[in-house]
Amino acid sequence: MAGLMRRYHVTTFGCQMNAHDSERIKGMLESLGLGEAVAPDEADVLVFNTCTIREKPDTKLAAYLGDAAARKRERPDTIVAVGGCYAEAQRERIFERYPFVDVAFGPGSIPHLGEWIDAGGYGVERGRFGTHEHFAADLPDRRERRHQAWVQVSMGCNSACSYCIVPAVRGREQSRRPGEILAEVTRLAHEGVREITLLGQNVNSWGRDLAPDLHTEFGELLRACDAVDGIERIRFTSPHPKDFREPVIAAVAECASVCEHVHLPLQSGSARVLKAMRRTYGPERYLKLVAQLRAAIPDLALGTDIIVGFPGETDADFDATLAVVEEARFDSAFTFVYSPRSGTAAAAMPDQIDDGVKRDRMEQLVAVVQRIAAENNARRIGRIEQVLVEGPSRTDPDLWRGRTRRNTTVNFDGACAPGDLVDVMIDAASSTTLRGRAVPALVAM
Ligand code: 5AD
Ligand code: SF4
Repeated sequence: MAGLMRRYHVTTFGCQMNAHDSERIKGMLESLGLGEAVAPDEADVLVFNTCTIREKPDTKLAAYLGDAAARKRERPDTIVAVGGCYAEAQRERIFERYPFVDVAFGPGSIPHLGEWIDAGGYGVERGRFGTHEHFAADLPDRRERRHQAWVQVSMGCNSACSYCIVPAVRGREQSRRPGEILAEVTRLAHEGVREITLLGQNVNSWGRDLAPDLHTEFGELLRACDAVDGIERIRFTSPHPKDFREPVIAAVAECASVCEHVHLPLQSGSARVLKAMRRTYGPERYLKLVAQLRAAIPDLALGTDIIVGFPGETDADFDATLAVVEEARFDSAFTFVYSPRSGTAAAAMPDQIDDGVKRDRMEQLVAVVQRIAAENNARRIGRIEQVLVEGPSRTDPDLWRGRTRRNTTVNFDGACAPGDLVDVMIDAASSTTLRGRAVPALVAM
């Protein structure tokens, strides 16, 4: 009967939230009786879960949709569904621009996708956009990874960062109820998951919008997740520096399973630019928070996001960013060239920065970030780090690959299996990865 089974293929762009949404999309399609196709050209239903945070993913999507159009010309009964943030930002324009698209849906309407991609027939109506009333997290999932899982704690974002399209496409912040989150974490633990990553656009404002009887805050949620048996590691992303308060710092410091790793988006080190970005903190407050985190959490790994070339950014502003990077000594940083997004306040600001200047600043920033990350990683040499084994190394099939609690990738020799927690002696380091060997006496822990 397998030959009769309709098959789907999902292509995912963007952040971890989108990757997680794709697990829900897959889970839902499978609950409708569809099976996963190994490649898009073998699928009856092609789903694109899109991103629109910068211009690059938009351009990439256009190329993918070109292939989908070709597939549809060969097999007119193919269903093409475009979801996610780009779809939401473009809404009906999707159908004008790409007339072969059958269904378009925003991140808030994943639960309706099943109705729209009617598994029984091919008579698909052009999709509507639902509101943000449901958590995709309530749908069945189809996880790619056995021992690690994402857990959505909120959707949407109430911040008003002037460069960012996300609040427009993902709506107002809505927290998921703590009982539902903990039920999911407990189920995941029973299924053998050892590491969870709590996901939200601004995780540490979680809980503020819940009914007063449920009122709770993110630190308490971390503590409750920490108490779930079987979950050895807890991560969360992304917090906003403006909402990183003492109870959350204390929870990270005190909960054994919460990893010593905080991703804390800086965006800029210039007070003036941060103000124009509407981040509501300045460089001093950011650095004070870093100092508090480091004082409370020994051996903390700090990650960040930085944007260069925001409208009006001067050489002095950029130097201020480099100065904060030097002081905060990030272990990792995602660096972005500012990309104007239509409809955001920053896109309409005067003094957009020349592409050459943006590229030049980017190059300088990356050099500093890599030097500091390499120096930090070199300090790990000679230490034993606990590693969660993820699979074979991507570069050498004779080695294993895993991640330390500080979230650095390690390639190592040793006898183990995915999902094991092993102690690894670190022998070498680059700016992004470590190399080591499992310490035999401790492997059985
Ligand atoms: N241009 C460049 N980078 C952006 N980000 C968000 N919006 C933009 C934009 N318009 C970056 C921020 C954010 C990360 C997810 O993407 O650094 O933290
Ligand atoms: Fe994620 Fe933002 Fe891209 Fe949406 S636009 S997928 S929230 S990065």
